[in-house]
Amino acid sequence: MPSVFIKTYGCQMNERDSEAVAAQLVAKGYSLANSEAVADVVLLNTCSVRDFAEQKAINKMRNVIGTARSEKREQIVGFMGCMAQSRGKELVEKLPDVDLVLGTQKFHRAAEYLDELLAGKRAKIVDTDAEAKSEAAIREHLLNGSAKTSVSAFVSIMQGCNQHCTFCIVPSTRGEERSRTIDDIVAECRELVSRGVKEITLLGQIVTSFGKRDYPALDGKSAFVQLLDAVHEIKGLERIRFTSPHPKGYGDDLVEAYARLPRLCESAHIPLQSGSDRILKLMHRGYTREKFLGIIQKLRAAKPNIGIYTDIIVGFPGETEEDFEQTLSLCREVQFDNAYIFKYSERRDTPAATMPDQLPQAVREERNERLLNLVNEIAAQKYDAFIGQQVQILVEGPSKKNAARYTGRTRCNRIVLFDGSARHQGQLMDVKIERTGSFTLYGDPAVVNL
Ligand code: 5AD
Repeated sequence: MPSVFIKTYGCQMNERDSEAVAAQLVAKGYSLANSEAVADVVLLNTCSVRDFAEQKAINKMRNVIGTARSEKREQIVGFMGCMAQSRGKELVEKLPDVDLVLGTQKFHRAAEYLDELLAGKRAKIVDTDAEAKSEAAIREHLLNGSAKTSVSAFVSIMQGCNQHCTFCIVPSTRGEERSRTIDDIVAECRELVSRGVKEITLLGQIVTSFGKRDYPALDGKSAFVQLLDAVHEIKGLERIRFTSPHPKGYGDDLVEAYARLPRLCESAHIPLQSGSDRILKLMHRGYTREKFLGIIQKLRAAKPNIGIYTDIIVGFPGETEEDFEQTLSLCREVQFDNAYIFKYSERRDTPAATMPDQLPQAVREERNERLLNLVNEIAAQKYDAFIGQQVQILVEGPSKKNAARYTGRTRCNRIVLFDGSARHQGQLMDVKIERTGSFTLYGDPAVVNL
C-alpha cells in the first residue's frame, strides 16, 4: 500500500486535522512515511494567518516537486487546510504539478480522493466546497502516532468564527461557526480515555462561542461551560484544557469553572492583540483594555498560579507610537507568562488590508523587537520563579532532542524535562524544579517521589 507524509503548518487545530487525516489513511491501509523523500504521497497542511506561513508552504511544495522530478520519482502531492481553502484552484494554476487541493471542510475525503488519484481515475482534484456537518466528521485519532498523543489528545469541538476581527482571514478559511453536540464530543472524549488518554484539549477557532445557538444559558452557565462540566464528569480523565478562547467569553461562569473544576488546568491562552482601546476598536475585538485587565484579575483571584499566555499583533494599520506604548504598558501590568508576537500581515479580503496608514515594515520590525525584549524579560523572571518549587507534571514521553530525557507538562502548561524512563510515560508525577533553560524547566523526580 502507498505511504504518506504529512507536514503541518500553523495552529493546534491544524495538527489535529493532520492527525485525523493520517488516522483515516492508516485505517484504509496506507502507511506513514518518515520523510517526504520516501513517501508516495506528500500532503502539506497549510496556514493562512500570515503571508509568511503561506510562502513557507509554497516554497516547500516547490522543493518537494523539484526533488521528486530530479530523482525521477512518481509522487502525488497536495495542499490541504486553510491556504488550500482560501486559494483553491489558484494553487494548481501557480504550481501545475500539484495533484490535490483539499479545503477545510473536506479532510474526511482525503482517502477517497487519494485512492482516485493513485489509481489514475482522476488527474487532479480541487475541492473547497462547503459541506454540511463537516464539523462532526473529524473524529479519528492516531494515538500511537507519537509519544505525546498517547496520553494527551486534541478534540475538535467547533469550526469557524463569526467574530470578524478586521485583520483575520480565519472567517474565510474556516467559515461560519458550527458546533458539534455536547453528547458527540463527550462520547469521543470517553473513547479516548478508555484508550489511555489522560489529558484532553478542546479545540476550536473561538471555543468560548461553542454551541451558542444550540444550548441556551443554564443556571448562568454558557454552552461552553456546560460542555466543560460534561467533559469533567468523565472518569479517568485527569486534565482538561482548551484553545483558543476569546476574551469576551471570559464571563464569571468561566472564571468560576476554573475554581470549581479540579481537572480544568489553570492555564489560559487569551489573545490580547493590542493594549490600545483605539486599535482594539479598529480591530473589531469587542473589549477594552480595562475589560481585559479585569478578566486577568478575576482569573488570578480564582487561581493564583494560573499560567496566562497571549497573542499580540504589532504594527496594525494606523498604530501610533502612543498606541504601541499602551501595549507595552499593559504587558508590564499583566506580566504574561509568555506572549506570541506577530508583525501585522495584510491578508486578502480582510477590512484591515485596505485601511489607511499601513505601517512600513521597518516600524513593524522595530516594535516587534521592542515588545519581544519586554515579553522575554518578564517570561524569564516567571521561569526563574519556579526554581525550588514542586509541580505536578503529566509525562508525555521521551524528549525529541535527547531520548534519555523525558518530557512532561505542568498544569499551567510549561514543559519540564527530567531524567526518566518508559515507566514514567503517561504518569502524573511530582517533580522539583532545579533549573531553567530557554522556555524549559528541568525537574528532579527523585526528590519528591521516594
Ligand atoms: N497579521 C499578523 N498576525 C495575525 N494574527 C491573526 N491574523 C494576523 C494578521 N493578519 C495573529 C493573532 C492571532 C494569532 C493566531 O495570529 O495574534 O491570535
